[in-house]
Amino acid sequence: MQIFKEIGPLKAFLVEKRKQGQTLGFVATMGALHEGHLKLIRDSQNDNSTTICSIFVNPSQFNNPADLQKYPRTLEKDILMLTETGCDALFCPEVETMYDQKSHLRFDFGHLDKVMEGQFRPGHFSGVALVVSKLLHIVEPDIAYFGQKDWQQFAIIRQLVIELKFNVVLKSVPTLREPNGLALSSRNARLTSAQREKASLISRVLTSAKEKLKNGTPVGEVKDFVITTLEAEAEFKVEYFEVADSENLTLLRNVTESARPILCIAVFVGDVRLIDNMFL
Ligand code: PAJ
Repeated sequence: MQIFKEIGPLKAFLVEKRKQGQTLGFVATMGALHEGHLKLIRDSQNDNSTTICSIFVNPSQFNNPADLQKYPRTLEKDILMLTETGCDALFCPEVETMYDQKSHLRFDFGHLDKVMEGQFRPGHFSGVALVVSKLLHIVEPDIAYFGQKDWQQFAIIRQLVIELKFNVVLKSVPTLREPNGLALSSRNARLTSAQREKASLISRVLTSAKEKLKNGTPVGEVKDFVITTLEAEAEFKVEYFEVADSENLTLLRNVTESARPILCIAVFVGDVRLIDNMFL
């Protein structure tokens, strides 16, 4: 695997690949890689002749400096995993390479970045959109892969790509889970093994909530059920649980208002913030 820290050499590599008629698949990550990330890489390898991964812990998307500081960084191990998976190139720039001293650009996605994650992480999606724009400009992939686990992020990046007319196809990859149902996340590394086991309750509660909604239970009642069940566990604090239209993220009071509803949740397990979602 070729490793690039600078934009120029990466671009030269990509120009060469394009000259050879290769198609480029791109997976953006913040590292601390796990099988969920590798699933994105493998999907890209299935669709494209060259796969590029980026690892960059993007400061502008962290509204909480402590969260940025605590974010796991495991570059050596990540490189081994990517090499074993057969990824062709890695772009792992320093902050100075991606950000000039003065960075003023901000994004506003209207309703899309005001609800759920947006409500509790102000500025987060502006930072995501900023770095994803930079990465798409640099890599110019044919297809870019994102995980369903961050569904709101996917909805926002889709809007970004439409509005800025990026010439890229976006693919959403289903969430990879542990055998107990816990969605794989870099943040899981910060859970104790007991917390990790308990955190499987999140996906079980989402599955039950789905059944209840399918059986006609009103959204309000299902919300109460989800919060009460999870918070019966002393270490759990539900930040939000919403049922939304998966396209425009309108929050639903009734699942019949949407063609494709999605259940979204954020839960603190101790001081670790986990998110998950499931389509109805
Ligand atoms: P990160 O959290 O590292 O995730 C990188 C990609 O992996 C995202 O598209 C995410 O949705 C996907 N992913 C994470 N866990 C997954 C799982 N269990 N199953 C499937 N896919 C999973 O998301 C980001 O980084 C950043 O915001 C980024 C887009 C890189 C911009 O900085």
